[in-house]
Formats: sequence, C-alpha cells, structure tokens
Amino acid sequence: MGNMIKAIEHAFWLGTEQCSYLIHINKAGKPVCAYFGAKVPLTEDISAFLEKDGPSNGRRVIYDKEKDPNCSLDDIAAEFSLPHKGDQHNPSLLLENSDSFVFDFVYESYEIKEAGPVEGLPSPRGGEELVLILRDQRMEAELDLHYLVYEEGVIGRYVEIKSSKKILCRKAMSYQLVLPNENFILESSYGNWAGEFQKDEAKLTHMGYFFGSNTFASGDNHNPLFFLKSGDSSAEHGSVYGFNLIYSGSHREEVEVNSFSRVRVSAGLSPQHFAWEIDKGKPFVTPVAILAYSDKGMNGVTAIFHSFIRGRVIPEAHRQDLRPVLYNNWEGTYMKFNEGKILSLARKAKKLGIELFVLDDGWFGHRDADNSSLGDYTVYKKKLPGGISGLSKKIHKMGMLFGLWFEPEAVSVDSDLYRAHPDWAISDGIHPNSEGRNQLLLNLTKPEVRDYLFEHLHRIISEAKLDFIKWDQNRPLSDIPGGEGGFVHRYILGLYELLSRVREAHPDLWMENCASGGGRNDLGMFSYFDTGWVSDDTDSFERASIQANMIKGYPACVMSNHVAAKTSHQLLRKTSLGTKFDVASIGVLGYELNLNDLDPIDKKELAAQIETYKKYRAAAQFGEVHVLAEKEDGRIIVSSIKDGQALASYCNVLQTPHPAMEKLPLAGFEAGKTYEFSVRPEKYDPRRFGSLINMILPFHVKEEGKLVNVVSRHYAMDAEKFSGTMDGEALNAGALTLGPQWAGTGLGENVRVLGDFGARLYLFDAK
Ligand code: GLA
Repeated sequence: MGNMIKAIEHAFWLGTEQCSYLIHINKAGKPVCAYFGAKVPLTEDISAFLEKDGPSNGRRVIYDKEKDPNCSLDDIAAEFSLPHKGDQHNPSLLLENSDSFVFDFVYESYEIKEAGPVEGLPSPRGGEELVLILRDQRMEAELDLHYLVYEEGVIGRYVEIKSSKKILCRKAMSYQLVLPNENFILESSYGNWAGEFQKDEAKLTHMGYFFGSNTFASGDNHNPLFFLKSGDSSAEHGSVYGFNLIYSGSHREEVEVNSFSRVRVSAGLSPQHFAWEIDKGKPFVTPVAILAYSDKGMNGVTAIFHSFIRGRVIPEAHRQDLRPVLYNNWEGTYMKFNEGKILSLARKAKKLGIELFVLDDGWFGHRDADNSSLGDYTVYKKKLPGGISGLSKKIHKMGMLFGLWFEPEAVSVDSDLYRAHPDWAISDGIHPNSEGRNQLLLNLTKPEVRDYLFEHLHRIISEAKLDFIKWDQNRPLSDIPGGEGGFVHRYILGLYELLSRVREAHPDLWMENCASGGGRNDLGMFSYFDTGWVSDDTDSFERASIQANMIKGYPACVMSNHVAAKTSHQLLRKTSLGTKFDVASIGVLGYELNLNDLDPIDKKELAAQIETYKKYRAAAQFGEVHVLAEKEDGRIIVSSIKDGQALASYCNVLQTPHPAMEKLPLAGFEAGKTYEFSVRPEKYDPRRFGSLINMILPFHVKEEGKLVNVVSRHYAMDAEKFSGTMDGEALNAGALTLGPQWAGTGLGENVRVLGDFGARLYLFDAK
C-alpha cells in the first residue's frame, strides 16, 4: 500500500498528487474538514490548520457543554450531518426509529486498508481507504464514513449505516463537505431530451441551491457532475472543486451557504420516494461520490477526472483501446429499412473507411413505429429474412464489426412479452399505467425479469457474434409500486446486477450507453459501458456546446459523436458536413446519415474526414482536454493533445459584419518543442455564396438555380489556407493568429468563411 492516508493524533491526512484533505476529530468527537485544497506537506503538527475556539454565537444550541462549551453543530465543517442536536442546516442523513428522530454519531475508531469494491454498486478500481467508525450507543447504530483515496487527485466518499435495531433512513447523501466560501460560482448543467448539458452558473448567495433528478435516471435534467469555482478562477488558473456521483438513478445535489460564509455541499440519493429499512444484518450503503480539487482552473479538474475515469472507472477490457469509427443507421433510415438497404449502406460505409456498422431500432418483433414489440427478441423477418446472424455474417465478411441496438429495460403493451407477463411491467397495480414513448418499463427489481433479459441478450450476442451493442432507455419512471421503500434505488441495483452479468459473460463486447441520447450518461453507467451517445441532438452547433460542457467531467473516449445530415433533424438548421466533423472529432467518431444520398463531393469529404480522424485518433480519444472558449464567449474551442499530436475544434457562434481579429487560445503544448500547425482543408459549397458567386464566374447563374445545384454535386471551392510552425510555449501563450473572418468585402486566401455556427479543426504535430 502507498501512503496516501496518514493517521495522526485526532486527525487523518488524505494526500494525492493534486490535493490534500485533512479530517480532524473535534473535541465533541465529530469529524470536521480542516483542509481540502492544493497539495501541502502532510505534517504531524496540524494545529495551524484548525479553527480556534471562540465564543459560540448567541442563539445556537451547544452540542455538549462538558466536551466543548463553544461547539454548535450548526457551525462546524462537519463531514456528515443529522438534525435535532443543534444543526439547523440541510442534513446529509435523516434517520428515525419508532422511539426517536435523534441520532448522534460520535467517532469511535478507524481502519486503513486497500479500497475494495462496494457491494452491489459500481466502484472505482484500486485506491486506499480510510474508514471512520462512528457510533450512537443509545440507538445501537453505527455510521461508517468511507474515504477512498486515488493518487490522480480524487477522493471518493460514501457512507454505510448499520443498526442492530430496525431504523428507517429517509435521506442518504454520500458525503458532506464544508468549505470556506471563496466567492464561489456554482457551475452545473440542466437540460432535457436533445438538449443535455446546458451550462448553468450561479454566484453563491445565502439562498440554498438544490438540483438533481427524480426521473429515476441520472438524467438529462441535471447531471450529477458539478463544480465550485472560486470567483477569480478561469479555464487554466485558480481554485476549482469538482464533484460527481458513481450512480445512475435519481440523485440530489445540495449547496448551502450559512451566515458565516461556510459552504455546505452534499450529494447522494434523491430523497424523493426514498425510505430504506436498516436492521440487524441489513446495512445500507450509499453510492460512491467523487471529489477533486485543482488550482489549475476548470481544465485542471477536467484533467484529474479524465485520468481517474480512464484508469479506474470505464471497463478494463477496452480501457486503452482506440474506439472504432462507426456508422449507425438511425437518422439515415429510422425504422424504414430492409436487408437490401442495410447492406447497401454497409458497403458504402466500408468504402469510406468505417470500421463498425450498427443497426439501430426496428429489427425485432413487428416494429415499424415506436409503439410495439419492445421486449420481444425475435427478428423482424419481413425486414431481415436472413435474421440477425445472417446480417452479421455478411457485415463481418465485408470486413467491419457489427453492432445492434437494444432497449432491454422497456416493454411495449403490444408485445408477446407483455401479453405473457403483464405483471413484469412497473405498475402500482391500482391505477392504469402511464406510458412514455408508448412504452412501459420492466420491473428490474424482480430476479425473473433480469434472468429473462440476460438470457435473451446473451443468446443474441453469442449467436450473432455481435461486437457491439447500444443499450438504450427511452422513458422516465412512473407508477411505482407501493410496499418496500426505495423502489427507484432497488431498480438501479437490479440494473447494475444485470449489467454485471452481461459484462462478465462478454468482457470484450463494445457497449454503448444511451437514454434517448444523454439521459443517463453518468459514472455508474460508464463503469459498464465503453462509450455513451451524447445527445439525440445532432445539430453541430448544439453539439459543440453540449460536448464542451460534458467533457469537463467525462473523458473524450466515452463521448460518442456522430456526423449527421447537413440539415439537422432536430432544429432544421443547416451546416456543412465539414463543420459537423470538426465538432464531432474530439471524442469517438461516428456517422449517422443516409450514405446512399451522398453527392460525389460529399463522399470525398467523408473519406477525407475519416482518414484525418484515424491519423489523430489517439489524441482525439485519449488526449489531455482543454475547454478554452465557450458559447458565451462567441466561439466554442476545445482542444485535445497527446504524444505530440493535437486537435483544436473551433465553432463559431454568430457571424458579425465586423469580426474581431482572433488569436487561438491553446494550452498543454510542450515548451521548447516546435509544432507544425494547419487547418483541416475545408470546402465551400458554391451555393453558400448565393448570387455573389457571379462575381467570380465568367457566366451568370441564378441563386438556387438548376445549374448551380448540378455543379455543386461535384465541385466545391477551397476554403482558406493556414499552416506554419510555432513553439509550444508560444502556442500556450495564445499567440497563434488566425486569418480574418469574412466581412462582406472579399474572399482572399486567408479569409475564413465561417458564417453562423461554422467550425474548423486545427491540427498540430510536434516536429
Ligand atoms: C433513442 C436513441 C436514438 C435511437 C432511438 C431508436 O431516441 O437516443 O439514438 O436509438 O432511440 O428508437
């Protein structure tokens, strides 16, 4: 074991590469956070870190006059909290039994060991663990505070509650952390279907903040990822704390500032519908939360989260493998396909350089629309007479991997499964069921349902020799049954059990997570899945923003980004295929459009994109990521750098008549090393210039006329040229000067015609 955990008198140091954390057991026997911030020496003498005694404020309840006449639980940096002993703020735990609501846990002992897995829940690999054991003698109850320490700079936390008498837990947060307010700005995300990871920021005031999800999934409403940024921090500098949960169900995050400017932060299970009985031999364990700190700004925390997730969270088998470039037929055909169409798409995909062909929804039962057949794992013979195995064989023969879409957790009312087992659908058994996307959810708390799903998934994956599955989930929960409390949590535990079985049986299978896009992209799911479909919104500008926010907490190798048709199906906004690629290229690349409809010029473009991507793939998927500009800055810039190669994706917001002279902000390059830089060659569709095109043609064409339409199928104009060399230090200093943007007065060879929402991809190679 390393020495990341150090026990000293009445205190414990947790030390990592990036941060230090000091827990002090105060005179009242309550663990408090004496320090969490930049890495410092783990000294024996910690007196200078501790808060000094002072008179307790007027109206407070003094916890125990004998032990400490100044200590009120309302104003200490407590590592957990319960009400009814003077703490008037948001509690991290709520417990009760038939006699009392008062639970008073006091420090008793500790244990230091190698971190082990948390039973029934996904947990990171490796690490060291400190357990603080606290007891309420009178209630015969024990509270264990677990601290998991990972050298990358992550502290994991969860709590375990044990009792020899029956108690009820009504709220269970995985941790509480109290920090002095550094003019913090809370950054989190909100969203919905086709609009996940919308950035939200609030300067903390004394009003409380709480957010989370009660949908039963971690949710597109509010991902469990959030940050506290000190008021003077920036992308590359200053103090930033990052938080996330390794959990996929309903969750709650709380941030509260008291009148003495202490910031109390906690996160864990959503208390809505939550009630859990704890009894002798029936302890309760919360999901693991992760906390990180960096003094190198938001991108510093991002780097910590990324290396931690890549090393300890995502499935081991493909942890370091380059993700294949895929084609998915969803937006290309939706459910209107047959074997002929699929094979023709597959042949085209192969020619473009695609490595994995994924058949999406509509291959089973009699599914032509989203109102039938979920739950029936029989192939739709009318569409695929050769079955899935037959199709898989043909695609494999073309030299591609083959993948298939499933939505295991759902059932259609119009399905053989529902007709045979109506009781397998989630229902309170009293009211008529409410449907979402015309479907119900299966009750994964029942072992027989999980067995049914495992058997069918296992059979199809094995028989058809699938290389990849996309596991979708397309509706929130409703109509939960009565009886035992904590149904939502039990469902998620059932889901994890099923996923563990699939993973154990098929460790090498590529698995992609999806919930109507990013409805359940969280670290719980990424403990089983190699990638996650980021959003059903495939508009490039929307995606640039969604991705720039998601990537702050999730590494590029889990983010599945697709190039879709020029006109977005979600917004009807049109951007070029070049722009779509430039935005999709940091992450895992895929294509999701009808390849049979491509013009010759588009085919060339796509083949060139895939060739470029493959050359820079390691940097695109596993590089050190920097988010350098965001939507509110008028441009979105994200870069990724690894082993001397880098990509910087630039996406414009709105074109203005007087565009600013621009330098390209960059970071992470090696000082003293020279880099060749260039812009990925772009093409302009002549139609882009409307009737202005006549200024360069020897003959006249009509805007949107037949001639220009025919010509543009085969011909496109070269966009600006941009290349050269620069030292890494100069690149990091943001000295690289970009060509001027189009300003309505002429098109020189340096001029960038980005227009509204246009993008570019800058490429770098160390010499
Ligand atoms: C969800 C997914 C899509 C697609 C459809 C199929 O919306 O997010 O990518 O798989 O389901 O029904």
